[in-house]
Amino acid sequence: MRIDILTLFPGMFAGPFKESIIGRAGSKGIVRIEIHDLRNFTRDRHRKADDRPYGGGPGMVMKPEPVFEAVEHVIGRTTSLLRDPQVKVILMSPQGKTFTQKKAEELIGKEHLVFICGHYEGIDERVGERLATDEISIGDYVLTGGELAAMVVVDAVVRLLPGVLGAKESAAEDSFSEELLDCPHYTRPEVYREMKVPEVLLSGNHEEIKKWRRQEALWKTFLKRPDLIEKAELTEKDRGNLRKFKEKQKNG
Ligand code: ADE
Repeated sequence: MRIDILTLFPGMFAGPFKESIIGRAGSKGIVRIEIHDLRNFTRDRHRKADDRPYGGGPGMVMKPEPVFEAVEHVIGRTTSLLRDPQVKVILMSPQGKTFTQKKAEELIGKEHLVFICGHYEGIDERVGERLATDEISIGDYVLTGGELAAMVVVDAVVRLLPGVLGAKESAAEDSFSEELLDCPHYTRPEVYREMKVPEVLLSGNHEEIKKWRRQEALWKTFLKRPDLIEKAELTEKDRGNLRKFKEKQKNG
């Protein structure tokens, strides 16, 4: 997969993309991530990437030309030819659709992702209208810019690419991969400050462990994110357990 990030603050990406799993995915050649300074696509002496808003008002707005030209540069074609379904041009903005695990899974099917990081009061509307294929928000709050948001999306996508996580780190049992939160995890020591690891995990009985994990995942989701339960695909056994949880909650 190829990922290009267009930003006015390229320095922000140096640390996060060099470290850990994303760094490893880069050195293994699974993903090629390039950061581009939008100022390199300006044409005036002052490398001006923003301007005052038409109609007045506070703040500055990011100009469309550097963004269009940067996208054309990384795609290698004119924007009118941009409708290749393997290419996504993603505008990071608080007005976008909220990012989810499902969206991350959709994006791993693409060959090329281009992220546009907005800044200042906003970005010229023509970028969202004519250039971006997607507009993504990472949540209902406003960041100083789209950079941190783009990092979040890139991280969630890259870890799903085949070969990035080892078998030990497998994504298959993540929270959300089955629409439930993940089950609890424990490691040595068996007893820590009088807190004991659940007996079943020490039993060696894989069938029982599997059942326990499912039940705990359901219980955790029921307590912390009941909204997810309504959308999850549940088995008959899960439904029975849910009835027991509700009973248990009612009786304190
Ligand atoms: N830029 C500013 N706030 C943002 C958000 N919540 N998500 C994506 N991009 C943003």
